[in-house]
Amino acid sequence: MSKSNKNKTEQLDNSATNASWGGRFNEPVDAFVARFTASVDFDQRLAMQDIQGSIAHAKMLAKVGVLTADELKQIIDGLAQISDEINQGKFAWSQVLEDVHMNIEAALTERIGIVGKKLHTGRSRNDQVATDIRLWLRDQIDTIKPQISQLQQNIIALAKSEASTIMPGFTHLQTAQPVTFGHHLLAWNEMIQRDYERLCDCRKRLNQSPLGSAALAGTSYPIDRDFTASELGFSKASENSLDSVSDRDFAIEFCAFASLMMTHFSRISEELILWTSAQFQFIDLPDRFCTGSSIMPQKKNPDVPELVRGKTGRVTGQLISLLTLMKSQPLAYNKDNQEDKEPLFDAVDTVQDCLRAFGDMIPAIQANRDSMFEAARRGFSTATDLADYLVCKGTAFRDSHEVVGNAVAYGIENSKDLSEMSLEELQKFSSLIDQDVFEVLTLEGSVAARNHQGGTAPEQVKAAADRALKLVKSRS
Ligand code: ARG
Repeated sequence: MSKSNKNKTEQLDNSATNASWGGRFNEPVDAFVARFTASVDFDQRLAMQDIQGSIAHAKMLAKVGVLTADELKQIIDGLAQISDEINQGKFAWSQVLEDVHMNIEAALTERIGIVGKKLHTGRSRNDQVATDIRLWLRDQIDTIKPQISQLQQNIIALAKSEASTIMPGFTHLQTAQPVTFGHHLLAWNEMIQRDYERLCDCRKRLNQSPLGSAALAGTSYPIDRDFTASELGFSKASENSLDSVSDRDFAIEFCAFASLMMTHFSRISEELILWTSAQFQFIDLPDRFCTGSSIMPQKKNPDVPELVRGKTGRVTGQLISLLTLMKSQPLAYNKDNQEDKEPLFDAVDTVQDCLRAFGDMIPAIQANRDSMFEAARRGFSTATDLADYLVCKGTAFRDSHEVVGNAVAYGIENSKDLSEMSLEELQKFSSLIDQDVFEVLTLEGSVAARNHQGGTAPEQVKAAADRALKLVKSRS
C-alpha cells in the first residue's frame, strides 16, 4: 500500500471525531493525529483518581445548586458502575476519545444520558488532569512511605546485631581506620532518613487542590473550592488558577526525591557488589538474590544490587525529562504537559520495585565477621591511633605522624601490621612507646575509643540504632 493510500484509509477509519470538542471542526481529525495526541493508553492509570475527583466535583455542584440531588445521585451511581467495570477489566477504552477523562465522561453519558453531560460544568480537563495526577501521586507516596520505613527498620536491626563487628573503614577506597559494620549500616540509614523527609516535604507541597481553576482563568459558576479540596483530602485550594493548571513541580520534586534515593541505593549497591566479591568476601547474599553464569560454573552474580544500581540512571533520566518538559513553557496549560505522566509513572514503579528488592535483601545479608576483621588488620588501620597515642605522651601531632609513617614503612617491608610488632621494634621509632601501646593498636581498642555521639564505638552504635528505630517507629 502506498503512503498516500495508507493515510487515506486511516482518514476514512477515523470518521468518529471526538464529540467532546468536535463542534467547531469541519473534518475529522487525521487518524495518525488522533493516535499521536491520544493519551488513554497510559493515562488510564489515573481512572480511579479521575472518578474520585468527578464525584467530589459533582457533590460540590449539587451543594451550590448547579445540579439537583437526583442528578447527583445518577452521576455517582453511574461513576460507581464505571469504576467497577474498570476494576474488573471490562471497560472498553477508546483511542478516539483521547484520554481517560473523556473516556469516562462518554461512558457516563452513555449510561445515564444527558445528566452525564452536566458533570463537566465549571470544570476543564486542565484542572481535572492536574487534580488526578496529584491524587494519584499522593496515593503512591502513601505506599512508598511505609516501604521506606520498613527498609530503614531492616537496616537498623542489622546494624544493632552487627554493632561490634569490626571492618576496615575506607576513604578513597583505601583502608583508613577500623569501623564497626553496624556504624556503616547506620550511615546508610541516615541517607535514607533524609530521603524520607524529602518525600514528606514533597507530599506537603503537592497536597493542594487545583480543582476549580477550570481551563486557566477559573469559572463563572458559584463553585466552592474549599469544599472540593476538603472532600479530596487536600490541605487547601490552590491560590492561582493559571499556576494550578500548569504547575508540575510536584512531579519534578517527586522525581528529584526518587533520583537522590536511587543515587543512595546505587552507592549501597556498589558496596554490596564489592563486598560479595572474592577479593573482599565481607558478606554473603543468599542465592535467591543472585544468578549464575551460563559459562562460568563458579560464578554467583549479585544481580539484584547491580540492577538497582542500573535503574538509578533510569530514574534520574525521568527527572531530566520532566525538567526539560517544563523548561520555557509559557503559562498556562500546554499539551506538552501530557508528557508528564509516563516519566512519573516509570519513576514511581522503579522506586517501588527497588524498595521491595532492598527491603527483602538487606535483612538477608550475612556478614563474614572473620573476613572483615582480617581485612581491617591489614592496611595499618590503627596508624592514626598510634599517632594519637604519641600525642598523648607529649609528641606534636606532625612529629608523631612522621614517626608512625616510618613504622608503617617498616611494616610494609617486613609484612607486619603495627599490632604484630614487638615493643622493642616499636620503640625503635619512638622511645615514648610503652607496653600500653597495644591497647590502642588493637582493632577493638581503636573502635571503642571513638566513644562519642556519631562515633563508631559499639556502645554508640547500639544507642544510635535505638534512637533511629524510635524515630522510624514514631511516624508509622
Ligand atoms: N490528556 C490531557 C493531559 O494529559 C488532558 C488535558 C487536556 N487539555 C487540553 N486542553 N487539551 O494533559
